[in-house]
Amino acid sequence: MRQKIVAGNWKMNNTLDETKKLIKELKKELKSVKLKKDTRVIIAPTFVNLLTATKKTKKTKIEVAAQNMHQAKNGAYTGEISAEMLTSVGVKTVILGHSERRTYFNETDKLLTEKVNTALENNLEVIFCFGEQLEDRNSENHFKVVESQLKNALFHLKSEDIKNIILAYEPVWAIGTGQTASADQAQEMHAFIRGLFASEYSQELADTISILYGGSVKPNNAEEIFSKPDVDGGLIGGASLKAKDFSAIVKAI
Ligand code: 13P
Repeated sequence: MRQKIVAGNWKMNNTLDETKKLIKELKKELKSVKLKKDTRVIIAPTFVNLLTATKKTKKTKIEVAAQNMHQAKNGAYTGEISAEMLTSVGVKTVILGHSERRTYFNETDKLLTEKVNTALENNLEVIFCFGEQLEDRNSENHFKVVESQLKNALFHLKSEDIKNIILAYEPVWAIGTGQTASADQAQEMHAFIRGLFASEYSQELADTISILYGGSVKPNNAEEIFSKPDVDGGLIGGASLKAKDFSAIVKAI
């Protein structure tokens, strides 16, 4: 059975005090929620608050991920954070390839290949983000774009490494815009993605990969999106910053 996952990408939000407050509220909201087997809840605060987050969520159902990581082991890379630094503060998962990293920080497929390799070598699970721009969808190139993003950054991996990859399909036009993909659009793309993994690896492996949808998931649309057979959860931006909204989305999984 593949895992169902609701992950909150906090992006560049929340000071230390706000992080503590939101975690406290989330713990309260989620206390009475009985998660089904193989269901996970993850939050991704900013780097400086990761240690606090891992401490505050110990022995709870909330896991902590980082939002990014540098590809090198260590060295003269002023301002960067290594995989080993993340694991040393109790982080087990890292988000890589977010469209904001690709757009504002020029992260390419080639760079992401290196980051994915480094993360896996350091036993970090990866939430790998990808998705097409609006013009790709309008010109009906969205399948091609997604296929090349996956091929370029992931298909060099061995089957056993794929087990540590969570996919997050985030159409760029749906991120932070309030314009979510319809449940059918999400399902269509997720089925296509699973098909790619089936042909590159095996149907058996493809059936075990969790594919999350991200882009304007809110309490009022989560249930419909999550009801689709190839949608295994969501990567949530804005709505993950409010305990009540994020918990409502968790309850929808
Ligand atoms: P929103 O939920 O704010 O659209 O953001 C989605 C996202 O980018 C999650 O990584």
